[in-house]
Parts: sequence; C-alpha cells; structure tokens
Amino acid sequence: MATSGSSRRYVYVVSAIAAIAGLLFGFDTGIISGALLFIKQQFTITTVMQELIVSSVLFGAMIGSLLSGRLTDHFGRKRLMLVISVLFILGTVIATSAHHVQSILIGRLFIGLAIGMGSYTAPLYIAEVAPREWRGGLVSLNQLAITIGILSSYLINYAFTNYHGSWRFMFGIGIIPAVLLSIGMLFLPESPRWLVANNRTLEARKILMYLRQTRDVKQELAEIKNSLQVKQAGFKEIFLPWIRPVLFLGAMMGLIQQVSGINTIIYYAPSIFELAGFHDTSSTILATVGIGVVNVLATIFAIKYLDKWGRRPLLLVGLTGMTLSLLGLSIAFHHTDASTLRYVAIGCTFFYIICFAFSLGAILWLVVSEIFPLAVRATAMGVAVFSCWFWNFMVSSTFLSLLKALGPTNTFFLYAALCFFSLIFCYYKVPETKGVSLEQIEINIRKRLPLRYIGQQPITEGDRKLVPGFEQV
Ligand code: BGC
Repeated sequence: MATSGSSRRYVYVVSAIAAIAGLLFGFDTGIISGALLFIKQQFTITTVMQELIVSSVLFGAMIGSLLSGRLTDHFGRKRLMLVISVLFILGTVIATSAHHVQSILIGRLFIGLAIGMGSYTAPLYIAEVAPREWRGGLVSLNQLAITIGILSSYLINYAFTNYHGSWRFMFGIGIIPAVLLSIGMLFLPESPRWLVANNRTLEARKILMYLRQTRDVKQELAEIKNSLQVKQAGFKEIFLPWIRPVLFLGAMMGLIQQVSGINTIIYYAPSIFELAGFHDTSSTILATVGIGVVNVLATIFAIKYLDKWGRRPLLLVGLTGMTLSLLGLSIAFHHTDASTLRYVAIGCTFFYIICFAFSLGAILWLVVSEIFPLAVRATAMGVAVFSCWFWNFMVSSTFLSLLKALGPTNTFFLYAALCFFSLIFCYYKVPETKGVSLEQIEINIRKRLPLRYIGQQPITEGDRKLVPGFEQV
C-alpha cells in the first residue's frame, strides 16, 4: 500500500476536515459551562431548567447516535457529514438568536443531533479513508479534536466574560467551524468502502487512486470487497450468546466513562469553582481554561503512549488517580477552611482531568472501535456510543440537583465510589488490545475466552477457520 508523502498529506487533510465534527463536539459541549453563568443572569431560571439547557445537547446526541448507523449506510458518509454540518449551523443560529429559554433548548437539541451523528460518522469516515497502518492513531486524533474543541470553548468563554449578553457570542462563534466543516466536506471524497458496498466500484477505484496517490490500488480494492463479504448483522444478531459479552463490555465502557463524573467538571467547572470560593466570574473561567489546557496535553500524552505502554496500565492508573482526586474533593469540601478549600479544589480538579484524559478519555473510543467482530461492528458500536451519550445525559442532567440535595461532600464521594467500582470492573474485564490484530480479537471472542483475555493468545492455523472471510484478507 502506497504511503507516499503526498498521499500522507492528503489523508491528513481529509481526516483533519472530518475531525472538525469532533472539534464541534468538544466546543458545543464545553461552551455551556461559561454561557450558563450569563443565561442564568438574563433569564432567572430554575436549577432544573439549567440542567435541561446543558442536557438538551446530550438528549439530541443520544437520538443522533441511535440514527447514525442506518443513516450513514443509506446516504453515505460524505452526504451525512454535510447534513451534520448543516444541523450544526441551524442549531447555532437558533440558539444564538434566542429570545426565550425554549429557543435555546431547541437550538441546542439540533446541535446535539449533529454531535451524536458526528461522534459516530466522523471516526468511521476517517477510518475508511485512512490506510490501515495509521488507523489507530487517526481514531485517537478525533479525541484530540474533542479536547481542542473544549479548550477553544473555554478560551471563548474567557474572552467574552465582560460583555453583556455574551452568551450569544459564545454560542455564535461555533458557526465558524460549522461553516468550515460544510465547505470542507463539499470537496472531500466519498468513502471508497461505502462506494464499493453500493456497487460503485469504478468511483471507489478513482478515489482510492487519488487518496493513495498511486494507480496501484488493486489489492486494497480486493481487500475491501473481501471484507464486505462478511454480511453485516442487524440488531438481533448483536444479542447472540458469543457476542453478548463484548456488547456488555462496550455498553459498560460507555457507562464507566460517564459515571466517572468527567462532565460534571467539563460542563460545570466554573460552578464548582464558585462553590469552592472563587467569586469573580473571570477567575473561575480562567481556572477552567487551565482545565482545557491540561486536558489537551494529557490527551497528546495518551496518544503517544497508548501503543507503547498498552491500554490497561493507563486505564488502571488513570482510574485510581480519578478515584483519589474525587475523594480529595469530597474531603476538602467537608474539612477545609474557606481560604484553602479553593486551592485544594483546583488541585484535585486538575489532577482528575489529567488522569481522565490519559486513560478513559481516549481509551473508550479506541476500545469500542476494536472489540466488536466485523459482522456486528456497525450496530454494536452504535450501542456503545449510545450508552456513552445516555449516561452522559443522566449524569449531567442530575448533577446540580444532586449537589443541592446531597451537598458537595456527598456528591463527590458518590462519584469517587463509582470510579472505584469502575476500576474493579476494568481490572477484571478490560482486555489489553495493544498490538493485537482485530481478527485475532475476533477469534478469541469466538473461542469464548473471558473478556480480559480476548486481546491475547496467538493465532493458530485452526483458529483462522473461525473467522469467515479472514483467510482471503
Ligand atoms: C467524552 C466526553 C468528554 C470529553 C472530555 C470524551 O471522550 O466522551 O463526554 O466531555 O472526553 O475530554
């Protein structure tokens, strides 16, 4: 397979444009933390309404992720990405020009639909245009784009802190990447894999020649055709006894990533800092910018070391650090006097974000793209992505009420306990998939190895027969 310099550049440009959807995912979920402070002032709204404003995006994302599998197959990746960019633009215009809270909710719902569809379609599209050998790194680049989106949202929040009605500007800036995504997608090619699946092999061949900058694409085209011989299974098949354990693992990973409480901090950090004693809006937002920076840096660290040290060590160390920092937060809110509380709270929050970003942040998206057998990958991945958005919705829409009902000490203790249980689950159930081929993982699943070991065991000749279509590839 050709990996010439110009081919490499071209695939990077294509992936970077598609990853704008990840950037918008991060931007539109992160911007709410600052905007909420101003929306609260302008509309005098209840806690439940605040939670609804935050979670309307997540509700839309849940629906979007459920629809994505079918829509991407029907319309193709490129056309759906264009629809997604239009939804982003539409939602942003509605939310930005809102004169009632209800319009903000509707605008954010549209944005959510786009985010949910994008969180499934963008990595899929990137994986399908990328040469096999760079696929892993490019999947994690999408997580990097998410964190860069979150950081940009925090910077914008900070820049507009002192402007009256600035929540409109905060939402409105999102129009720029959304327009860039739609213009960019107009020029990008359709996924060759989708074209072959839709009997448009000639077009697929031309696009592959362009993507790889070589006329010699026969072998890759044959591989695509071969892999398409594995019939894609529907919803019922993902519940077959041999697939159920990995489906459970995928859904659990989505749950764990969210009940670890990550978005109580990403979405509500300024509110937490206010609670810990920072009273002027600009310093709480500035501290939040710091969170965005360490989130990006620790994600770069993860991308660098995931393939060297493996997923499990990073995951287990990360979850231990997250449990400890949430415990620290809980204790600080209980025992520390007001002057030191704010510093302990900042320290624990930063440490927590670092630990999340080098572990669960990147690993969730990586694991769900690795563990599912080819025939059920599309549907099962949809279930795992849906689980992530569902639990995100549950956590974000109850956090402020929990804080009110239980107080910060008990709320953070609850999240520390959930992190601890997640740590135990991951210790016993999450496989090490570093350097293992996806076919080998599938063989191990078919052999019904316990989840923790599906990333091990070398392939034997007998094993090969267990995966239909494997030998032709
Ligand atoms: C999660 C998001 C989270 C982000 C933080 C992603 O992997 O799915 O819910 O806001 O990481 O960086």
